[in-house]
Amino acid sequence: MAIIAVLDFGSQYTQVIARRIRECQVLTRIYHYTTPASKLAEEGVAGVILSGGPASVLADESPRPDPGVFQLGVPVLGICYGLQLMATMLGGKVGHSSRREYGRGLLTLDALDSPLLKGIPSDTRVWNSHGDKIEKLPAGFTQAASTENSSFAAVEDRDRLFFGLQFHPEVVHSDHGREILENFIFGICGCTKNWTMSGYIDKAIDEIRQTVGDKNVILGLSGGVDSSVAAALVHRAIGPQLTCVFVDNGLLRKDERQKVENLYASNFNLNLKVVDATDKFLDALAGITDPETKRKTIGHVFIDVFEESIREIGEVNFLGQGTLYPDVIESVNIAGNPSAVIKSHHNVGGLPEKMNLQLLEPLRELFKDEVRALGAELGLSKEVLWRQPFPGPGLGVRVIGEVTAERLEVLREADAILEDEMYRSDLYYNLWQSFCVFLPVRTVGVMGDERTYDNVIALRLVESIDAMTADWANVPHEVLQTVSNRIINEVKGVNRVVLDISSKPPSTIEWE
Ligand code: XMP
Repeated sequence: MAIIAVLDFGSQYTQVIARRIRECQVLTRIYHYTTPASKLAEEGVAGVILSGGPASVLADESPRPDPGVFQLGVPVLGICYGLQLMATMLGGKVGHSSRREYGRGLLTLDALDSPLLKGIPSDTRVWNSHGDKIEKLPAGFTQAASTENSSFAAVEDRDRLFFGLQFHPEVVHSDHGREILENFIFGICGCTKNWTMSGYIDKAIDEIRQTVGDKNVILGLSGGVDSSVAAALVHRAIGPQLTCVFVDNGLLRKDERQKVENLYASNFNLNLKVVDATDKFLDALAGITDPETKRKTIGHVFIDVFEESIREIGEVNFLGQGTLYPDVIESVNIAGNPSAVIKSHHNVGGLPEKMNLQLLEPLRELFKDEVRALGAELGLSKEVLWRQPFPGPGLGVRVIGEVTAERLEVLREADAILEDEMYRSDLYYNLWQSFCVFLPVRTVGVMGDERTYDNVIALRLVESIDAMTADWANVPHEVLQTVSNRIINEVKGVNRVVLDISSKPPSTIEWE
């Protein structure tokens, strides 16, 4: 299958480029910028995209690709930093711009017959973010389009099929960006549409069957999108050779265990082992108030419980996991790049080695939106595929301070009311997350003639694209009013509801 290779120079948009190409039903993979050209040739790439990046080609030790990339005989498209690299490495000249160009620009076409800009109207809005500019084009290149601030907004060498863009076609603020990428992958690289989820299912099922043979697979089901889709796919491939384990850690939301049991055991007829480990988790958490210690404790107990359940199942050779493509991409760390994970996230750590299990990761080639499309093809519902993210340590990191059964119960009831109202007001799927947090303070209230001294619930309602940044959502007052009234009236032990109005950064989405 023809692949478009995206060489990553650390741009925040690298994954967006890859996703846009996949949306055009063409397979693309992201490669570290140091990948040798020979490896790309082996993979059968039909075209190469050099991503943007935070570095300057003028700086010492700026990241460079293998020069062999320009000798592969396939088209190359440089975007932003990628364009400046191409200009520098092929004999042109790049200098610091007197004006940094950020945000919107207006693109004027100079070469109306440019294969890259075919069908794009002049005066198109594009999205810029760059500091350097090209002063002299390499031999063989001509200017194809300009913006107010740059005469080389798009450049091309039609003989060698090298193209460069000073703006970002992959972001939604570039009006005809998608057509430009389509011109590159279809018109210039000659790719055909051959990447579809139904095609992927057939291929993945074959591969799973071949890998697993007559052996057995265990998969930890959390109820989240990734493990649910992985379970549905592996189940379709090998049926009863798969056993899923769902650990009830006592930190789940209201009725969650019941819902998972209904969905998988009843609807999918899947071997599901539900382990009630509430006491183990709560005993281990007793007295702990430090957030990191809580997370680590929950992680360790999870591994112990999971390990024990594998032993109980008996002969198991593979551990299925819903690992996604963004977890697999080798990250490029260049100064100025925001680093990824700050809090410790729990996963199965060294379990596979310890228990001599091979990993089976049938989603490791897919982006989240593709996983959802795959899940839909496999018959999973919108409620499962579009549910909001829920942290592995569950309500354990939403009860601030010590986690106790009583506090969890209060939080669960409050959270269920919030979720109910989010669905009723059609906000649930529009928000990144909406949840309650239990605060370990008591405040005074009055109820009827009585003075109360009860707990506080905080509402965390956020909008986000990828959880790296987030903002508190502007939810209508009437909805907030209903949620607050209902929680205070219906949940015993709560007499005050507050709203969290902090953005990320500097706050985080979860409170712990
Ligand atoms: P923060 O609180 O760091 O969270 O802004 C970013 C996103 O990650 C989720 N989150 C987790 N997800 N295991 C997970 O699978 C975890 O331990 C974990 N901690 C936070 C959080 O809900 C938000 O969507």
